[in-house]
Amino acid sequence: MSNRTLAILKPDCVEKNLIGQVVQKINEAGFKILAMKMTKLTNDSAGGFYEVHKERPFFNDLMAYMTSGPCVPIALEKENAVADFRKLIGATNPENAEEGTIRKLYAESIERNIVHGSDSDENAAIEISHFFSRKELLENNGF
Ligand code: CMP
Repeated sequence: MSNRTLAILKPDCVEKNLIGQVVQKINEAGFKILAMKMTKLTNDSAGGFYEVHKERPFFNDLMAYMTSGPCVPIALEKENAVADFRKLIGATNPENAEEGTIRKLYAESIERNIVHGSDSDENAAIEISHFFSRKELLENNGF
């Protein structure tokens, strides 16, 4: 079991000025922020990140949405990080998300669902390295 996961505050989160509220929820749930940045994804970057979904019918819409504005990737640390973060954000479709979860509170649709969370320890490591260098993770983890 790994202790890291990758969150992305998606373009709808940034557009709706919800970065503060979502980060507060993440902190209150006991996650430590290892690294965080605001960045606008290119087609290449978003395509690489969502490579596993490239045959899915929603892939083109997902690319258009994820490159439509800035997003905020965040590397997080906590015991049981992947599972605990997925519990905090709720189901991919906000209609199915539990009360109190980030998506239930703020998401409007399965696509514009505010936040991404890694789905396995293996993918968490890959996804964190998509956005952050080892150096960035080490430098920001000195306390
Ligand atoms: P995320 O956890 O970032 O991983 C893939 C994303 O594709 C997902 O969140 C949704 O935002 C988006 N998506 C759009 N349509 C669908 C769909 N029908 N099923 C699953 N994911 C979808």
